Amino acid sequence: MRIYHTIFLLILTTTLMSQDYVGSKKCKMCHKKDKTGNQFKSWINSRHSNAFETLKGDEAIEIAKEKGLGNPWEEEACVKCHVTGYGKGGYEIKNAEFWAQTKDGKKPTKAVKRMENLKGVGCEVCHGPGSKYKSKKKMVAINKGTMDGAALGLIQPTEQLCIECHNEESPSYKPFDFEEFYPKIAHPLP
Ligand code: HEC
Ligand code: HEC
Ligand code: HEC
Ligand code: HEC
Repeated sequence: MRIYHTIFLLILTTTLMSQDYVGSKKCKMCHKKDKTGNQFKSWINSRHSNAFETLKGDEAIEIAKEKGLGNPWEEEACVKCHVTGYGKGGYEIKNAEFWAQTKDGKKPTKAVKRMENLKGVGCEVCHGPGSKYKSKKKMVAINKGTMDGAALGLIQPTEQLCIECHNEESPSYKPFDFEEFYPKIAHPLP
C-alpha cells in the first residue's frame, strides 16, 4: 500500500508544481510602464527586491555566526524568507557546480537564470507562481473578471501572507503593522 501512497503523492506534487515560479524579470516586460502603474519599478525600489543580497552583508553574517550557522545565503534558516517560493518549487539552495553551468562556455543556462531571478522577495511570493497566468490574454481576462485567476495560480495577497515572513522567527523582527508597512510597498493599477 505504501508504494501506491508514494506514487499518489508524487503525481499530486507534480500537478501542483506545474504552476511554476518564473522569476520577477518575466513580469517586468508588461509591468514596467508608468501609464499602468509601473509595479516593477516600485518593487525594485523596495527592500524586497534586495532581500537575498542582504544575506551577503556583514550584519547577516554576524547574525548567522551567533546562531552557529554557516553562510546565511546558503542556510535554509535564513534563505527561506529572503527568496521566492522556497520549499514550494521556487528557489532552491544549490552548490557551486549548479551556478557554474553554462550553455556555451559563457552564458548561464536557463535553469541558472531562472534561479537567479528567484532571489529576493519577488512578485510571485505575493501573487503566486506565474507560469500559467502570465500570458497577456490571460492577464487581461483576469483583470476584466472573465477568467478566474485563482485557478491559474494567481493569489489575492492579504495581511496573512505578509506574516508568513514578518514574524518573530526573523532575527531582526520589527513589530509588523500592516497599515504602516503596506503603503511602503504599494503598487496599484492606476
Ligand atoms: C504579457 C504581459 C504580462 C506579463 C508577462 C505579466 N502580466 Fe500581469 N498583467 C498584464 C496586464 C495587461 C494586466 C491587466 C492590467 C493592466 O492593463 O496593466 C495584468 C494584471 C496583473 C495583475 C492584476 C490582476 C487583477 O486581478 O486585476 C496582477 C496581480 C499581475 N498582473 C501580476 C503579474 C505577475 C506577478 C507577473 C509575473 C509572474 C505578471 N503579472 C506578468 C500583463 C502581463
Ligand atoms: C517571503 C517573505 C516575505 C513576505 C511574504 C513579505 N515580506 Fe516584507 N520583507 C521580507 C524581507 C526578507 C524583508 C527585508 C529585506 C531586506 O531588508 O533586505 C522585508 C521588508 C519589508 C519592508 C521594509 C521594512 C523596513 O523596515 O523598511 C516592508 C515595508 C515590507 N517588507 C512589507 C511587506 C508587506 C506589506 C507584505 C505583505 C503584503 C510583505 N512584506 C510580505 C520578507 C517578506
Ligand atoms: C510583498 C508582496 C508583494 C510583492 C513582492 C509584489 N506585490 Fe503586487 N500587490 C501586492 C498587494 C498586497 C497588492 C494589492 C492587492 C489588492 O489590492 O487586492 C498588489 C497589487 C498588485 C497589482 C494591482 C492589482 C490591482 O487589482 O490593483 C499588480 C498589477 C501587481 N501587484 C503586480 C506586481 C508585480 C509585477 C510585482 C513584481 C514586480 C509585484 N506585484 C510584487 C503584494 C505584492
Ligand atoms: C521568518 C522569516 C525570516 C527568516 C527565517 C529570516 N529572516 Fe531576515 N528578515 C525577515 C524580514 C521580514 C525582515 C525585515 C525586517 C523585519 O521585520 O524583521 C528581515 C530582515 C533581515 C535583515 C535586515 C535587517 C534590518 O536592518 O532590517 C538581515 C541582515 C537579515 N534579515 C538576516 C537574516 C539572517 C542572517 C537570517 C538567518 C539566520 C534571517 N534573516 C532569517 C525575515 C526573515
